Amino acid sequence: MTASAKAPVLSAKDLEKVFTIGGMFSTRKVRALGGVNLDIGHGEIVALVGESGSGKSTFARLIARLEQPTSGTFRFEGEDIMATQGKRPKQSYRAAVQMIFQDPFGSLNPVHRIGHFLERPLRLHGTAEGGDIEETKRQLMHKVDLPDELLERFPHELSGGQRQRIAIARALAVKPRLILADEPTSMLDVSVRIGVLNLMRKLCVDDGISMLYITHDLASARYLADRIVVMFAGEFVEGGDSMELLANPLHPYTRLLVSAAPDPERVGGYDPVERAQLRREVMSADSCQWEGDPEVPCSAEKAVFHKVSDQPEHWVRCGRYRPPADAPGTALSAAEEPAA
Ligand SMILES: Nc1ncnc2c1ncn2[C@@H]1O[C@H](COP(=O)(O)OP(=O)(O)O)[C@@H](O)[C@H]1O
Ligand SMILES: [Mg+2]
Repeated sequence: MTASAKAPVLSAKDLEKVFTIGGMFSTRKVRALGGVNLDIGHGEIVALVGESGSGKSTFARLIARLEQPTSGTFRFEGEDIMATQGKRPKQSYRAAVQMIFQDPFGSLNPVHRIGHFLERPLRLHGTAEGGDIEETKRQLMHKVDLPDELLERFPHELSGGQRQRIAIARALAVKPRLILADEPTSMLDVSVRIGVLNLMRKLCVDDGISMLYITHDLASARYLADRIVVMFAGEFVEGGDSMELLANPLHPYTRLLVSAAPDPERVGGYDPVERAQLRREVMSADSCQWEGDPEVPCSAEKAVFHKVSDQPEHWVRCGRYRPPADAPGTALSAAEEPAA
């Protein structure tokens, strides 16, 4: 959305995904992704935050080429991937863009030893250092701060944090330039989460890897990411420098998320009445605080984005633009239903 100071590794343009649900002849459609734009710079960590069902995984799956977009394009290192790589991505692309999932155990076949999971990508992509597979496996273990002995173990003998480190090592085995990490720490104990986040940051700093960090946890987004993009009902509604954005959330949906985040300074947890009010504001937008913005005129038809003055990275979707009422993730939860 914002022009990154660094040349973008990834540049998504009007990326849209509509799912048809209920079999071949069904006409029920879910617009999981509503035509979004995003740049990620070299070595940059961007967090994509939003509630469950807002379309975060769909965005990552399109970039990883696990799904085809309904429309739109994206460039990776300048190459228009949809135009040049059609339905089947090249092996070089599948190596360069690696996805890490929430459940590391689910992606590790229990009958194999840990060493096998590192060896396979090294053989498939020919990425072992100097052709030495054993030495490269040890280097990868070192990179994710695990002892070599674990190479001989089975997945069930490792802790959740260790398994997620193996998933990261496996991604690193093919020398990725972009990692799409989809809720990578949400199944881990709080005590080991921070270690995995620190490891991910180290990889980006040391190896210049770029990262899309998907989470519903604002605190970890602020901890890890340079920039946060907030997603609601398949669209990006606000983005900016992590610290600044969370200190000064402007879109009612961002304020809704911030109001639900644990805040040691606030007593008594979040206020359901305030949250219901914020959610109604998101759904019934009819005014915009940037009315008369000389750079972008407000629009109820098209999602235009206003820049926040003095904050070059910070933008907010126009308050006049409403998400369609049937868009995924827009329903009020029972707890937030306004009292009669
Ligand atoms: N393969 C699919 N078929 C049909 N609907 C899908 C599929 N994948 C995702 N969706 C729908 O798209 C919306 C966004 O889902 P998702 O991207 O998984 O959200 P998030 O990762 O933010 O929880 C949801 O309404 C979900 O039900
Ligand atoms: Mg998801």
